[in-house]
Amino acid sequence: MTTPGQFPTVRLRRLRTTDALRRMVRETSLRPEHLIAPIFVTDGANIVQPIESMPGISRVSVDHLPALADDLISLGVPAVILFGVPAPDRKDPEGRESYAPEGAVQRAVRALKAHSPQLLVITDVCMCEYTSHGHCGLLDDSQRLLNDDTLSLVARIALSHAEAGADIVAPSGMIDGAVGAIRRALDDTEYQDVAIMAYAVKYASAYYGPFREAAGGAPAFGDRRTHQLDPANSTIALRESALDVAEGADFLMVKPALAYLDIVSAVNQAHPGVPLVAYNVSGEYAMVKAAAANGWIDERAIVLESLTSMRRAGASLIITYHAKDAARWLRD
Ligand code: PBG
Ligand code: ZN
Repeated sequence: MTTPGQFPTVRLRRLRTTDALRRMVRETSLRPEHLIAPIFVTDGANIVQPIESMPGISRVSVDHLPALADDLISLGVPAVILFGVPAPDRKDPEGRESYAPEGAVQRAVRALKAHSPQLLVITDVCMCEYTSHGHCGLLDDSQRLLNDDTLSLVARIALSHAEAGADIVAPSGMIDGAVGAIRRALDDTEYQDVAIMAYAVKYASAYYGPFREAAGGAPAFGDRRTHQLDPANSTIALRESALDVAEGADFLMVKPALAYLDIVSAVNQAHPGVPLVAYNVSGEYAMVKAAAANGWIDERAIVLESLTSMRRAGASLIITYHAKDAARWLRD
């Protein structure tokens, strides 16, 4: 009973009573076209090496890519991001294999674009998988990362990916000026339409552990804290993203995702109109897979809830090792 002048009892639950109502008022969508599948590509032929800490993910040679591409396309996943895993004997202090025309990534891009031109091919641009010391650039005699000397190499890697046919290049080293250097190199040649997905906001995170096993890119000494961001900081993320936009970034990225959704939200609000990518990284994947394998969580529900939360926080796109499974679950 309500007396005149009083509001009726507030019943926010009314809009949650049926599935149809819940669907009608749902704010956030998650669809296969929001997902980007990472692929670890290696030299040689007929190779599938499962990565122990990332169940379901393998390092594969180029001949396996067409089948992988067919799977992703049939599930509605529009893009892949490639990481090269060169043989240890191809590494040197200058990471020269990173821009070799016959490198694994360059061959992978050509194979994928020849087989399925509609699949978007993104390439990770960094030196850490290619340098014998495992750092993301050139080092000086005191083993400090040389920022500006690294820029021409990063541009050279990106150019080699563009020449192979990459649609989007993604510099991941947190080297100051990398986006601008790459944009200039692409614009000086015929690759004005190759886009840049900037790993603008990449934290120095323990969540990359399984990736470093997968790609063999762990630093031989030291760490990446002189270039990747301090997990305790947030406002610097806005300066990092503003700089990358000014240098010509077409997409911005925040990485990792789940522990940094506040950053995803802040960067999205600061840069409306710039598509934002959240990278759901290897450690996040490994934790879910381990708990699921123990029967402690419902993998499907956890993955879809986590990916939805990244979209809700403001990510347009999500790079995730769950891409294939998630796309299948979204379809079923
Ligand atoms: C290389 C790179 C890393 C990741 C993507 N590109 C590793 C690192 O910076 O140490 C991490 C991806 C993941 O953990 O899934 N610069
Ligand atoms: Zn790197």
